[in-house]
Amino acid sequence: MKAKITLAKEFRIGEIDKRIYGSFIEHLGRAVYGGIYEPDHPTADENGFRQDVIELVKKLNVPVVRYPGGNFVSGYNWEDGVGPVENRPKRLDLAWGTTEPNLFGTNEFLAWCKKADAQCMMAVNLGTRGPEEARNIVEYCNHPSGSYWSDLRISHGVKNPHNIKLWCLGNEMDGHWQMCAKTATEYGRVALEASKMMKWTDDSIETVLCGSSGRYHPTFGQWEVESLDIAYDSVDYVSLHQYYGNQADDTPSFLAKSLELEEFIHTVICICDYLKAKRRSKKQINLSFDEWNVWYHSHNAPFDKWSIAPPLLEDIYNFEDALLVGSMLITLLRHCDRIKIACLAQLVNVIAPIFTQTGGGIFPQTIFFPFMHLSNYGRGSALLPLVDCEKYDCKEFTDVPYIEAIATFNEEKEEMTIFCVNKNLEENVVLDVNLLDFAGYKPIEFISMDGHAKNEVNSFENIAVQPHSNPLPQIDNSILTADLKPFSWNVIRLKKENSYEN
Ligand code: AHR
Repeated sequence: MKAKITLAKEFRIGEIDKRIYGSFIEHLGRAVYGGIYEPDHPTADENGFRQDVIELVKKLNVPVVRYPGGNFVSGYNWEDGVGPVENRPKRLDLAWGTTEPNLFGTNEFLAWCKKADAQCMMAVNLGTRGPEEARNIVEYCNHPSGSYWSDLRISHGVKNPHNIKLWCLGNEMDGHWQMCAKTATEYGRVALEASKMMKWTDDSIETVLCGSSGRYHPTFGQWEVESLDIAYDSVDYVSLHQYYGNQADDTPSFLAKSLELEEFIHTVICICDYLKAKRRSKKQINLSFDEWNVWYHSHNAPFDKWSIAPPLLEDIYNFEDALLVGSMLITLLRHCDRIKIACLAQLVNVIAPIFTQTGGGIFPQTIFFPFMHLSNYGRGSALLPLVDCEKYDCKEFTDVPYIEAIATFNEEKEEMTIFCVNKNLEENVVLDVNLLDFAGYKPIEFISMDGHAKNEVNSFENIAVQPHSNPLPQIDNSILTADLKPFSWNVIRLKKENSYEN
């Protein structure tokens, strides 16, 4: 099969905000305990942080990590997680039916972020608590000194403020599974007042309003309209969450889910812009896609109720999941003019690209690699390629392009990278890329993941699914030709010819 892509610098969608390559750590299962924090682990540093985990997190080049939930945050007392560890209470976590020992809290997470070269995106509890506790944690974290909460932080050994810039106003507040779930009007009011007071405490912060829990949630659409209409003037972003699964074992439909994602993003942008128009405002609300991933392998796995850090939501990802994760992130980049933040949910052990054994080893899951490629090479601006390829029909969708692609242009480094998924399960695609004004650019690397069965997975013993290099594609008369293997993930990196030495 043949396909064509046309690319030019003018096809610019927008500057990529690096926070689109964010991730998420929740107090859930073994994400914190046995994941990022395990004082008895052979690789643990003086803070109890696993160095093997930090090494892999750095490979992912994650600029921002959302914390501490997720559903957990809707019952969390942040004060339980600061101060002398021996005084911290153990609490029942009603979100996940476990016991939270509070050995790890705000200051530990901020110290971990520093080591992982990431910023913190902090979520406040707008379930069982409200604006008062939310503004207190902003003061605790960001106020330099001379007030009750900032001096308390200093007394906890943290002299300099954390200066956290990004704050989530609760989590999935329309979900019946959420502690103190709310109607859109109830939530809009609480979110507005919390955001106002948090910004009065520190006017440099940005806040994220909770969008609906998902596109198929009954309140989706109306929730965004109602709650954003109330909180518009104070908030900066609205959140989106989306997980996909292949329960029906229908790979063509599964790989086509990015079309649905596209529609979802488009709808939320329309809602934001409708509200902007309605109030004749100059203020634009952008999107924070702060939970996205494949999630279905681990549903309903049994565990011991009220235990501490049991293995929960530990999906082991297969090869086809890696292709959908690549397609999903490509889709987010196609909207990088409006999606400023996105968080792969989550980072370690819990539906995550990094998997550890408590007391033992570590391995990168299949989904680790497309994310790593995009996060490392997909910086600068995103270009919308003109893709001309055949399409397929499947049970859930019609007219699904076999090729899902995006290009990114790093002007400073004079590098352009093309990322594409070949969704054809049987056939190679001979891809011609018309380079137009990238004519002086030459390929420097062609990486792919291919040749795997859809259910192939990685393990502690064997990283069976991982990328490999291919011979460089040829360029003839400004047309680059690459052979994309059936059912594959592909990264073609180009650099301006006379800039090799940079
Ligand atoms: O990421 C796992 C859970 O999924 C989060 O706690 C919640 O926000 C979502 O429903």
